[in-house]
Amino acid sequence: MSDRESGQGHAAAEHLKWWQSGIIYQIYPRSFQDSDGDGVGDLRGVTARLPYLKSLGVEAAWLSPIFTSPMRDFGYDVADYCDIDPLFGTLADFDALVEEAHGLGLKVMLDYVPNHTSSDHAWFQEALTGRDSDKRDWYVWRDPAPDGGVPNNWKSFFGGPAWTLDEQSGQYYLHQFLPSQPDLNWRNPAVREAMFDVLRFWMRRGVDGFRVDVIWLLAEDERFLDEPVNPEWTPGDIEHNSVQHIYTQDQPETHQYIREMRAVLDEFDDRMMVGEIYLPVDQLLPYAGTPDAAMVHLPFNFHLILRPWQAGAVREFADDYDAACRKLQTWPNWVLGNHDQHRFKSRVGAAQFRVAQTLLLTLRGTPTVYYGDEIGMENVHIPPERMVDPAGLQQPDSPAASRDPERTPMQWDASANAGFAPAEATPWLPLADDFQTVNVQAQEADPHSDLNYFRALTRLRREHPALVGGDYHSLDSGHDDVFAFRRTLEGETVTILLNFGAHERALGELAAGQPLLSSLDDQPGSGAVLRPNEARIVLG
Ligand code: GLC
Ligand code: MG
Repeated sequence: MSDRESGQGHAAAEHLKWWQSGIIYQIYPRSFQDSDGDGVGDLRGVTARLPYLKSLGVEAAWLSPIFTSPMRDFGYDVADYCDIDPLFGTLADFDALVEEAHGLGLKVMLDYVPNHTSSDHAWFQEALTGRDSDKRDWYVWRDPAPDGGVPNNWKSFFGGPAWTLDEQSGQYYLHQFLPSQPDLNWRNPAVREAMFDVLRFWMRRGVDGFRVDVIWLLAEDERFLDEPVNPEWTPGDIEHNSVQHIYTQDQPETHQYIREMRAVLDEFDDRMMVGEIYLPVDQLLPYAGTPDAAMVHLPFNFHLILRPWQAGAVREFADDYDAACRKLQTWPNWVLGNHDQHRFKSRVGAAQFRVAQTLLLTLRGTPTVYYGDEIGMENVHIPPERMVDPAGLQQPDSPAASRDPERTPMQWDASANAGFAPAEATPWLPLADDFQTVNVQAQEADPHSDLNYFRALTRLRREHPALVGGDYHSLDSGHDDVFAFRRTLEGETVTILLNFGAHERALGELAAGQPLLSSLDDQPGSGAVLRPNEARIVLG
């Protein structure tokens, strides 16, 4: 037995926490289910669809922001952290959602947006009244540069400078996103206390966990120096990438604030947080903290999105990441899509779609699934007059910047508006052209559909604890385009065989076990040969 196969890190599935054994399902509430006909999804709509989530075999629903907001960044600009935006419903609707979810055995996670508020937030409005305002120091202010311009070269993620001038006071305020999303000053203890009370407010209402927005951006270097130019940047790439973010991201103070945040979660039983962090693994995993100084339960691992879709590259990453997680005693997690990334089916291609889905649900670690990916929703072409995402509208020279294509309405059935909204409504974003064939209802009826394949994968996770709590080790498949790995737990071995290419591959002994599932299950299986683009799971 090699080190990797030894018991190190063994975790019987029944000893795992819900956020380790379960699947997190991300709902983008605007696009899931509209119950009142305004073309925008809402909380009553989500509640009505909770039985569907249960049928998928997922554990938790994470809702993108539902709080009071002017919606300039579609809710990631919060004007009141402790209320529900009328577009989505009321606090009573939210309580009903939580009750229904818990009744079904589902957890509820909210999106917590601590880095910035909306400029409409009462705190910022008060800060704008002048330099002596009580709330002035709740945000990040700087005097102009000697030439009267911006204080330094820091850039907004959505293009342009990260500074906007407040003409009345003559000072600039910091915003890493839109000018209407001023950054909070996390160095101020009063800000931290107020933001921690927000967490307590929702946990008292029964919320089980949080996805924490841009958690790696909380603090900035106090010297406010220019960031170095990124020599690898090329025009067409977003402007934000033109500098290296050594002073605006991943600061030591941020780690300290997250430890404090974690202590607040630990005031309650069995709550969790997953942090949005786009960093290389060596900077990412420290966000989980240490046993004595815990930080986030899961630092989102976006590397399957960021790396090329090739068997060798994926294997190399999975090996390194799994080993690093073991070393730091951190639980792994995997993501293929979210509301900021193009749909993974469009990215890897239709032929590879189930290979990717199989990978997501069989690697060691918590999978997060983006709504609609279970039925194979793809990027939707948005005509210019329907574009709404500020990231796209503000950066016309970076065509990939718009996030509208991956935020389109859920495709429930073949009726007008795909069952997302009443027939007379105009959905806030256009529906996919193919919704009449690609929808939940049609796929329910087809045993070979993407939806039923997804359910077969989640069923296998329930039936084979090795797939959830088992150790991971990769295998030499003998082919550059085949990634094979094993999950082992207490004598049970499950082998996952993934053909990333379009050629048949003979696998010999590797494929010898009892077949449990094939992504091409509508065609006869063929023993030791892995068919083009086939994903197969075998026992043994
Ligand atoms: C995160 C969110 C994104 C939002 C940004 C600003 O990256 O996922 O949708 O625009 O933060 O809050
Ligand atoms: Mg509505």
